[in-house]
Amino acid sequence: MNAHEIIAAYQRAGQGQVFAFWERLDSASRADLLAQAAEIELAEIESLHRTLGVGGGAAALRLNELQPAPCTRLPGRGGNVTAWNRARAAGEAALRGGHVAAFTVAGGQGTRLGFDGPKGTFAITPVRGKSLFQVFAEKIAAAGRHYGRPLHWFILTSHANHEQTANYFSAHRFFNLDRNRVHFLRQGRMPAVDFSGKILLETIGGIALNPDGHGGSLRALHRSGALDLLKSEGVDTLSYFQVDNPLVRCIDPAFLGFHLLGDSEMSSKMVPKVYPEEKVGLFCLGAGQLGVVEYSDMPPAMQRETTLDGRLRFDAGNIAVHILAREFARRMATGGDGAALSFHRADKKISGVDAAGRPVEPERPNGIKFEMFVFDALSFARNPQLVETSRADEFSPVKNAEGVDSPRTAREDQLRQFARWFRAAGVGIETDATGLPSLPIEVSPLFGYDEPTFLEAWNKLSPPPVVSTGMYLE
Ligand code: UD1
Repeated sequence: MNAHEIIAAYQRAGQGQVFAFWERLDSASRADLLAQAAEIELAEIESLHRTLGVGGGAAALRLNELQPAPCTRLPGRGGNVTAWNRARAAGEAALRGGHVAAFTVAGGQGTRLGFDGPKGTFAITPVRGKSLFQVFAEKIAAAGRHYGRPLHWFILTSHANHEQTANYFSAHRFFNLDRNRVHFLRQGRMPAVDFSGKILLETIGGIALNPDGHGGSLRALHRSGALDLLKSEGVDTLSYFQVDNPLVRCIDPAFLGFHLLGDSEMSSKMVPKVYPEEKVGLFCLGAGQLGVVEYSDMPPAMQRETTLDGRLRFDAGNIAVHILAREFARRMATGGDGAALSFHRADKKISGVDAAGRPVEPERPNGIKFEMFVFDALSFARNPQLVETSRADEFSPVKNAEGVDSPRTAREDQLRQFARWFRAAGVGIETDATGLPSLPIEVSPLFGYDEPTFLEAWNKLSPPPVVSTGMYLE
């Protein structure tokens, strides 16, 4: 569409205010504004305006109908050892067959952490100070080596951090991964609207645009051609995780196996919540379908409900680790069979311009931002599987600058994990009552990325090294 056609389409949709300052813009600014306007699907904004902007409450949860979600428990917590072994074998076969790719969502701003840069570049390991991206790169490289098939790795970025992320990988030579197998996908954006559904301007020549949420990752996989690339290479399964969790098992054969043997289109991992107010989403069944209810949407009394044996009734915490079938991602992205993620609304203060084009900073919420959440896809998936994992081995996110879920807690949880591995190898390591070692130690994922691979590598060392302060095993 040319400039005239775009402006006419906006006027027909009742969104002509986007071009209110057109006459004041130079030709470069006009081109920028047109490019932004062309990104927006006006029909989508119109339907959002009808369902959310005005009607409100369309996405209201029926809290009284929620049930706890059933899940496959860990062996030792009621899970069936034979089923776990069978699942692990199925996942390993898929990895050896080259059918799996890794997928990291890293488009968020990391505002709570107060770090100026893509969160994945944040230094997180306890001795070497490796970044989150380096930790994942090494785990993915090690898994590829272990199964004899290097993996593709897709990283979701946003307009705000795409260039910086790609440059960071180039500067670090892709951490020795094959650069043809590392792909950066820039996620889409959604405009903010006022309470009558009018698209807001941030400046006289710029629309107030925001990332479309991690649910936008599915559209990004489709639009970028990633799904076609995977199809052409016989990869049908994506292992999805967030950028903020250094403990994550990027590639977990047993989880993959439960997904594959369950003939599932999307599967998720959970850890039991440790206390009622813990800020994690909760897997629940609503009208018989699996979904996630955010902690902020569940009343405190419900979060505190317990079962007869004293456990929390809703205890299935979302650690944001999922498996997606490739064609399911495509169906969700294209709206096939009526599958589509709905948008969540957030009422926000949105900086912008007044009718005369002067900058304004609102004092109270003046508009709505829209985001999609990837876990909403669970309710469209065939046979979604929910599988328990161990928090100590897999979940220690970096969200806040201090306190819970901070760099400090994540470093300590890595140290505890390394200490457990050494102990399993028969090396006496002094720890406090929480399992935190008194010596800083670090194991590279290239040496071992979980207890079995660590033990395999350790047992080959002869003589085994003496463990000392600052020890780094690679
Ligand atoms: C999220 C989950 C919560 C879960 C917790 C586990 C949501 C709404 N909630 O909370 O259920 O218990 O993680 O740690 O997701 N991202 C993008 N693009 C976006 C927005 C986010 O790529 O537009 C990425 C971020 O980079 C990050 C991840 O998605 O990797 C999570 O985003 P964040 O907003 O930090 O989620 P949480 O509130 O921490």
